[in-house]
Amino acid sequence: MPKTGSTARPVAPKKNNSKPAGPAPARNSAKPPAAAPSGSALDIKDNRTGQTYSVPVAECAIRAVELKKIKTSDPSDSGLMSYDPAFLNTASCRSAITYIDGDKGILRYRGYPIEQLAENATFLEVAWLLRHGELPGQQEYDQFVHDITFHTYVHENFRKFLEGFRYDAHPMAMLNSSIAGLASFYPSARNIFDETERNISIVRLLAKTPTIAAFSYRHVKGLPFVYPDNRLSYVENFLSMVARMSESKYEANPIFARALEILFILHADHEQNCSTNAVRAVGSSHVDPFSAVSAGVAALFGPLHGGANEQVLRMINEIGSVKNVPKFIETVKSGEGGRLMGFGHRVYKSYDPRAKIVKKLADEVFKVVGVDKDLEIALELERIALSDDYFTSRKLYPNVDFYTGLIYRSMAFPTDFFTVLFAIGRMPGWLAQWEEMLLDKEQKIARPRQIYIGPKERPYRSKLKARNS
Ligand code: CMC
Repeated sequence: MPKTGSTARPVAPKKNNSKPAGPAPARNSAKPPAAAPSGSALDIKDNRTGQTYSVPVAECAIRAVELKKIKTSDPSDSGLMSYDPAFLNTASCRSAITYIDGDKGILRYRGYPIEQLAENATFLEVAWLLRHGELPGQQEYDQFVHDITFHTYVHENFRKFLEGFRYDAHPMAMLNSSIAGLASFYPSARNIFDETERNISIVRLLAKTPTIAAFSYRHVKGLPFVYPDNRLSYVENFLSMVARMSESKYEANPIFARALEILFILHADHEQNCSTNAVRAVGSSHVDPFSAVSAGVAALFGPLHGGANEQVLRMINEIGSVKNVPKFIETVKSGEGGRLMGFGHRVYKSYDPRAKIVKKLADEVFKVVGVDKDLEIALELERIALSDDYFTSRKLYPNVDFYTGLIYRSMAFPTDFFTVLFAIGRMPGWLAQWEEMLLDKEQKIARPRQIYIGPKERPYRSKLKARNS
C-alpha cells in the first residue's frame, strides 16, 4: 500500500559525454526543478482507498510520474496516469527558447519581443539567437554568415534525386524526402553528442534548405537549376535560385527581400507546436538531425499546421468574390464548409502577434504590387468573422497563416510552395529545440503511455477456410 505523504525525488543528472568545440550552444538556462518549497504541494485524496498523497508543485506543474504512486491494492493496478490526447495541458519539456502568452498575444524569442526582432534583426541573427540564447557579436555573426554562405551547395547527386520526382510533385513532399536524404550524404552526423558534428549539421541544414527548396521549385517549373551565389545575402540568394533567368547579375526586389526576411523571422520558432514536437520526439531516439528535422517538415505539411497558408489561398479562390463571403461564413458555422483556414490557434486566444505584423507587411507589399480581389476577400472574411459570435465566443482570431499566402502570391510563388517558405523559416527553431532536447539531462526517448481499450485475451480461431479444414 502506498504511504501517505509520498513526495518526488530529485532526478539525478546524467553524465554529458559531448566534447565542446566551436561556439557553445545555449544550455537550458532555467534552474533545474527544485524540490518544491514546503506548502507548494497538491494534496490528492484517493476516494477509492481513502489515502491522501502530497504531490509537489513546481513551476505551476506537477510531475505526472508522481501520479503513478497513487494506486489501489489491486495487483493489476500499475498506478494512476494522466490522459491528455493532443497534449492539451501537458508540458513535455522545460525550454528556454520561446515564450508565448496566448491570452495576451505575446511572443518572444529568448526574451526579445517578436515585434522588435521583425523590425530590426536579420534572419541569421535570429537563427543564432535561438540556438545560443544571446544575440551574436559582430565577429560571431560574420563567421556564422560565412559558414552558412559556404555550405549552400548540395551534392550533384541531388539533381538526379530531385529529377526523379514527377513534374507535379508537391514541393513539401520533395523537401521532406530531400532533408531526410541529406542524412545519407553526411553519415558522421549520427555522432550527435559530438558538438563539432552538431555545429556542422546545423550549418548544413540552415544553408542547404533554401537550395533544396529552390531546386524543387525549378524542377516543377521545368527550369534549369540555379546554383547559389555567394555574393548575395541569405534571402537574396534564395530569391536568385528561385527566380534568376539569364541576368548576369541578379538583383532581388528589396521590398520583397525584406518582406521574406521578416516572414522567415516570424516563423523561426513557436515553442512546442506540432512539427517541433515531432522533431523532439523523433530526435529523442538519438537519430541524426537530418532525420529528426525531416519529421518536422512532414508535420508542417499538414493543413492544420503549416499547410494552412496554402489552404487559405485555396479557400479564398473558392469563395471567388467579396459578395460570397457572408454565405461562406455561414457554411463554416454550420460545419458544411469546413474550417475557416488561417483562423484559430491552440495557444493564442487573442490576435496572433505574428498575424498583426504580417497584416502590416501585406499593406506595404500591396502598395508595390497593387491591391487585388483576394486581399479584399481576406479583409472581408476577417471583418465578418471578428464580429460574429461563433468566432468571438471561441476566441478564433486570424493566425500567422491568414495573410502570409497573399504576400507569397504577390511575389509570384505558386500556392503549393507556401508551406516550403514556412519550413525555411522554421528550420532554426527546429534545430535549437532539437539540440536543447538532446542536452537536457531529464529527457529520455519519447514514449507516451496509453489506455488500452481493445479486447481482453481470447484464443486464436482462424476465420480462413483453409486453416479450419
Ligand atoms: N474555423 C471554424 N471553427 C474553428 C476553427 C476554424 N478555423 N478553429 C477552431 N474552430 C472551432 C472548433 O470547431 C471548435 O468548436 P466547438 O467547440 O464548437 O467544437 C472550437 O473552435 C475549438 O477548436 P479545436 O479544434 O478544439 O481547437 P484546437 O486548438 O484543437 O485547434 C487549430 C487549433 C489551429 C488546429 C484550429 O483552430 C484550426 O483547425 N484552424 C484552421 C487551420 C489553421 O489555420 N492552422 C494554422 C495554425 S497557426 C500556424 C501553425 O502553427 O501552423
